[in-house]
Amino acid sequence: MAGERYIIEGGRRLQGTAEVSGSKNAAVAAMAASLLVPEECHLENVPAIGDVSFMAEVLESLGAEVERPSSSTLRLRAARITAFSPPTEQVVNLRASFMVMGPLLARFGQAACSPPGGDVIGQRPIDVHLAGFAAMGADIRRQGEKFLAEAKRLRGARIFMDYPSVLGTQNLTMAATLAKGTTVIVNAAAEPEIASLAEMLNKMGARIQGAGSHTIEIEGVDALHGTSQRIIPDRIEAGTFAIAAAITGGDVRICGLEPQRLYSLVAKLREAGVKVDEGEDVLHVRGDGQLTAVTIQAVPYPGLATDLQAPMAALLTQAQGVSYVHERVFDNRLLYVSELRKMGAEVVSTGNTAIISGPTSLVGTSVRALDIRAGAALVLAGLAAHGRTEIFDIYHLNRGYQCLDDKLRSLGANIQSV
Ligand code: EPU
Repeated sequence: MAGERYIIEGGRRLQGTAEVSGSKNAAVAAMAASLLVPEECHLENVPAIGDVSFMAEVLESLGAEVERPSSSTLRLRAARITAFSPPTEQVVNLRASFMVMGPLLARFGQAACSPPGGDVIGQRPIDVHLAGFAAMGADIRRQGEKFLAEAKRLRGARIFMDYPSVLGTQNLTMAATLAKGTTVIVNAAAEPEIASLAEMLNKMGARIQGAGSHTIEIEGVDALHGTSQRIIPDRIEAGTFAIAAAITGGDVRICGLEPQRLYSLVAKLREAGVKVDEGEDVLHVRGDGQLTAVTIQAVPYPGLATDLQAPMAALLTQAQGVSYVHERVFDNRLLYVSELRKMGAEVVSTGNTAIISGPTSLVGTSVRALDIRAGAALVLAGLAAHGRTEIFDIYHLNRGYQCLDDKLRSLGANIQSV
């Protein structure tokens, strides 16, 4: 609902324990993978967020059955697929909807989809997906607004990806599972969500090696079968809570995550003066000292995630000195700069770099969440600001953060959604 907003009374130190939900991006990929088989796939630890609901609608539009036996489980069954192309009005809601292409093409020999929507954070082409399908023998045509891909049976190929696209790697990996012969993806993305998808596919009978590295080898098989999969913890949600602890000078234990997946963030937080202790599945973050300016670069994994770039920029408004924030993944992911300025931050952007002078004392005002992570940055700024911050368009946040306001309130924040 576009009118929903957060109201935050800032200035409270966060304290306590935050539980991390399942990963948004791993969940939507696992949902797409269920299209590869007629049997049921059972997903656990699925976050209750908007993007999961959007993806469920996309699968249902194709004839798949989607049930939610509990708030964190999904039962998916693609036994009777009746369409090979999701409606454009659903596809524009969600970038991950384009991931139906790989499984449909591999299993049924045809798939069509409009260019997907998603956050407005820069040009988001799909050329690497299409080039990969074509390399595997698919015929790719434009049919009105949609891309149509057809192939009797895909065949294994050696594919060089121009850019290590996350969704591109997932789409091509799924397509290759049922191809005839072996596919090698060179310059694949290495994000943990790719390794978790490959783990699920291997449980379904696929033969994938190297997922999580930049070269993935997939030996095609004739058929796959249903499986159960637990969705990995959301490293971006965990990182957002770590920054929330730091920006409020708080003391928060973040539980149920894989700390090694957040090493780039932990390293930069420590460099900025935040105390971070790592346990097996917990991060203990204390922001009890002065923060120092740092330079960060958002790059593909294992570098600092682009999805944590805006939240880190909010933190750096509180650091002593000049911080440089370089966004190197997307070409328009600094739109939050103008919103932070409304709150009193000394930040300017030039090209894909934000330059932040600090510390500045932030003041609550009305701001707009322009995309999910820009919205997260404003929530963090609001927690640190004096007075009342009103954040509009929080539907962006609801797409990817499960019960963000409840979780922050349980740590002592004064945040209400209205
Ligand atoms: N790119 C190309 N050609 C392509 C595809 C991508 O040049 O065919 C470029 C893009 O222009 C962009 C870069 O590659 O500059 C990265 O895009 P990528 O394809 O890797 O992003 P994505 O797969 O569309 C996923 C996540 C994003 C996350 C990025 C980068 C999902 C559903 N989305 O998007 O998550 O930012 O990887 O890690 O997995 C978010 O959670 O807030 C979010 C936007």
